Amino acid sequence: MTSTTQANIITNSAKRRIKIFDTTLRDGEQAPGASMKPEQKIVIARQLARLGVDTIEPGFAISSPGEFQAIQQISRELQNVEICGFARCVKADIDSAVAATQDAARRRLHLFISASQIHLDFQLRKTQDEVIEMLRGMVAYGKQFVDQIEFSPMDASRSSEEFLFRVVEAAIEEGATIINIPDTMGYALPEEFGPLFTRVREGVRGGDKVIYSTHCHNDLGLAVANSLAAIRHGVTQVEVSVNGVGERAGNCSLEELVMAIETRGDSMGVETGIVTEHIYETSRMVSRTMHFPIAFNKPIVGRNAFQHESGIHQDGLLKNRNTYEIMDPEAMGIPRSMIILGKHSGRHAIKHKISEFGVKLNDAEMEDFYNRFKEKADEQKIITDDVMMQLLGESTDTIVQPYSLVDLQVLAGSSRSRIASITIYSSADGKEQTYTGAGEGPLEAVIQCIREAMPVDAIFEDLEIHSLSTGEDAFGEAVVTVSSGDQRNIGTAIHRDIILAAARAYVSAVNGVILARKISEAHKEASGE
Ligand code: KIV
Ligand code: ZN
Repeated sequence: MTSTTQANIITNSAKRRIKIFDTTLRDGEQAPGASMKPEQKIVIARQLARLGVDTIEPGFAISSPGEFQAIQQISRELQNVEICGFARCVKADIDSAVAATQDAARRRLHLFISASQIHLDFQLRKTQDEVIEMLRGMVAYGKQFVDQIEFSPMDASRSSEEFLFRVVEAAIEEGATIINIPDTMGYALPEEFGPLFTRVREGVRGGDKVIYSTHCHNDLGLAVANSLAAIRHGVTQVEVSVNGVGERAGNCSLEELVMAIETRGDSMGVETGIVTEHIYETSRMVSRTMHFPIAFNKPIVGRNAFQHESGIHQDGLLKNRNTYEIMDPEAMGIPRSMIILGKHSGRHAIKHKISEFGVKLNDAEMEDFYNRFKEKADEQKIITDDVMMQLLGESTDTIVQPYSLVDLQVLAGSSRSRIASITIYSSADGKEQTYTGAGEGPLEAVIQCIREAMPVDAIFEDLEIHSLSTGEDAFGEAVVTVSSGDQRNIGTAIHRDIILAAARAYVSAVNGVILARKISEAHKEASGE
């Protein structure tokens, strides 16, 4: 490493501000199956603005009239965030991007053209000189309408450095103000990608006059690492998407990059303007709108990211959270439920969970409860709150499940309405009652019945269904999340019939809400609060 290169690696104590350029609505939407309706894009854009991103790239205006209108409305409405129009080096694309972003308070135009030989030979079918001529003409053309021009040499990390320098130099000469070097194919390694920025800045005429940005794909799982390497070499803008959605394996994930900077920012000397408390909500919103599930073990926003099942970890956490957590989930707006009870949980964690509900067991009851707990945990993966309460009821003869599902019948098929009928037992009056409901899908019909049968003030937040193995006879696991105030309850159930599993999981989650309320009221009464 040369001494100038070292000088460019930021080591001083004043924090450098890294701008977050969000491309969830453009590159993110290019993920197979993730496309959104214009009105959905507008809702997500509002949330991105609330999250505090610096720039939003809302889409590719030329691609459809709906896309154009969504970009236009986002530009008109979101006056506190910069809006970026996106275009190939083609006049019609530029005209469309310029027109769609016309009413933005602050805007930029993002132009791109391929720079790798393989793209030139097989995709563009142009010589290097022809590419330079095209980009010169189109950067100059765009510059007539928009001051801030961002230019991306596509597939830069697989381009010859000599041609990459020529391309960047030409774009700067024609008026580009931001140079975005993408790792389009997610091919680069951090130790080679970072220094590339220093070489471009030093090797290209005018290279020290522009802002540098990066845009990394995650084909080798290195998008965040490559973006951090670029930051170390002077980049001040990173292009990201919520949940890392995007072409193929996706883009650099907004939440992972931001939290890496939040958590390790002191050693990197950088910060962002993201309001981290909105991260979780934004992630859920994008996942739901795009119908794009989040892996359980996804950093930051995955269901397991802050949950601990091992007895040793749970014990450490109860003594001091920092033993096994490097971030506070609440700082990202993630509801705290760090202890997940299962077969690996020890007595300490189980006792703690029981005490959260205000229940105290004597030694004999605890022993009996512990044995029942372990038996149940061998049968099912997670012991949810309501199952725990059921076991507690058995051990102490005091608490019983408020409701249980006795029978379920569903009429599915291709006719318009699906009909469900359920029979529910209520422990309050010791009676069984049958309810019927209809919906566009069998699940909707079932949910309607359960809502009527269990009139509890709880919002149905989420349903995830997973196949636990392969084949047509696979068991399905349903996980239902309901919320009541700031309390969230999860119910799970496993069955070959996924509708039955979902119904049981929903009943279980609502039972959890009722029991939590009852127990907390009983506790308040006992302590005279
Ligand atoms: O991946 C890529 O290279 C892109 C550019 C057009 C920035 O999305
Ligand atoms: Zn991309």
